[in-house]
Amino acid sequence: AQQVPDILSPEFAANPYPAYRTMRDSAPLIRHEATQSWIVSRYEDVERVFKDRAGQFTTENYDWQIEPVHGRTILQLSGREHAVRRALVAPAFRGADLQERFLPVIERNSRELIDAFRHTGRADLVADYATRFPVNVIADMLGLDKADHDRFHGWYTSVIAFLGNLSGDQEVAAAGARTRTEFAEYMIPVIRERRENPGDDLLSTLCAAEVDGVRMSDEDIKAFCSLLLAAGGETTDKAIAGIFANLLAHPEQLAAVREDRSLIPRAFAETLRYTPPVHMIMRQTATDVTLSGGTIPAGATVTCLIGAANRDETRYRDPDRFDIMRDDLTTTTAFSAAADHLAFALGRHFCVGALLAKAEVEIGVGQLLDALPGLRTEDGFEVVERGVFTRGPQSLPVRFTPAA
Ligand code: HEM
Repeated sequence: AQQVPDILSPEFAANPYPAYRTMRDSAPLIRHEATQSWIVSRYEDVERVFKDRAGQFTTENYDWQIEPVHGRTILQLSGREHAVRRALVAPAFRGADLQERFLPVIERNSRELIDAFRHTGRADLVADYATRFPVNVIADMLGLDKADHDRFHGWYTSVIAFLGNLSGDQEVAAAGARTRTEFAEYMIPVIRERRENPGDDLLSTLCAAEVDGVRMSDEDIKAFCSLLLAAGGETTDKAIAGIFANLLAHPEQLAAVREDRSLIPRAFAETLRYTPPVHMIMRQTATDVTLSGGTIPAGATVTCLIGAANRDETRYRDPDRFDIMRDDLTTTTAFSAAADHLAFALGRHFCVGALLAKAEVEIGVGQLLDALPGLRTEDGFEVVERGVFTRGPQSLPVRFTPAA
C-alpha cells in the first residue's frame, strides 16, 4: 500500500486531499495510534456509520470531546432521550419560527457587518464578515444584549480553539475550561430572568419548550447555547468563507451566481461537498463492526473523514472539480442536502441547523454580492486553508467598487 500521511502531520494539515485519495484507494480502514481510533474515508463507509441502521454506533466519545467545554448536549445522547431532547430544540430552527422570527434577524445582522466596510473598497471576508455573522445571529436570536455580543464572540473563539486542540495544548485546554465557567456565570442569570419575563426570542422559546412532559433545566439550556457557538457558529462561518473562496477561484461561476441568485443554493451545496467545514466526526462502536473488509472491535472510536467521503470517485464524477452545475447534486430549490453530501452528517444527529445555515448563506451571499460590485481577490493573494477537524480559509482579502 502507498504511504499515507498521518492526519496529525503538517503535510496533511497543509492539504489533506491527496492523502484522502490515497486512503480511499489503498487504506480505507486505518488503525490510528495517536488518536486511538479507526479512520474511514470512503463515502459508503462514512454514510453507513452516520445512518447506523443496525444500531452499532454511539456518540459516547463526545463525553471526552464535548463535555469539558459545553456540558451535556444532544450530541452526546442517544435513543429515546436524544429524540425527546432534540424535539425540544429543533422546531425553532425550521418552519414558521425560522421564516417569521429569525429571517429578519439574519438580514439585519448581515447588513450591519457589510455596512461597516462597503464604503471602503476592501475587506477581509473572513475576519470582517464570516467569523462574525453566524455568531452575531445566534446571540441576537437568543435575545442577548447587543453590548454583550463581543463577549459572546470571545467565548466562541475560545470554544473553537478548545475543540480544534488535537495536539492537547495545556493552555488552550485551560482556557476552554475557563470559558465554560464564564459562559455559565453569564447565561444562567439571563435564562432565569427570561423565565420570569419571556419575550419573542429563542431563549424564551427554549425555556417554554415541553415534549412528553420533559422540559429543559437552566443547565440544559446553557449547555445547548454553548453548543450553538461551535455547531452553528464555526460551521456557517467556514461555509461562507468557503463559498467565496471557491467562487473567487472560479470567476465564471461567480459571474453566473451574480447573474442568477437562484444558483446560491447550488453554490452552497457544492461548497459543502468540495470543502466541508467539518472534516472529521467521531463515533464509538457498540459492537464489533466490519467496514471496508476489516473488523473494528466494540468500544473503539471511529473517525469518519467527511472531507474524504465527499470526494469519493465512486459517488461523484470528477470529484476534485468545483462545479456548482454538477448533475450529481440534487439541490435545486428544495432543501435536499442530505442527498448531496455528508457535510451535515446523516441519521439521528443530522444537523439541526441545516435550514438556518442555508438561510444565513442565501441571505448573506446575496447581500454581499449586491453590496460589493466588482468583487475580486486582493492582487497576488492565495487562499490558505487551516484546520484538520474543521477546516476553512484563514483569511480572504478582497477588493470591490466602494459604495458611493
Ligand atoms: C449537528 C454540520 C450549521 C446546530 C451537526 C453535525 C454536522 C453539522 C456534521 C453532526 C454532528 C455529529 O453527528 O456528530 C454543520 C454545518 C453547518 C451547520 C456544515 C453549516 C454549514 C448549524 C447551525 C446550527 C447547527 C447554523 C444552529 C442551530 C447543530 C446541532 C447539532 C448539529 C444542535 C446536533 C444535532 C444532534 O446531535 O442531534 N451539524 N452544521 N448547525 N448541528 Fe450543525
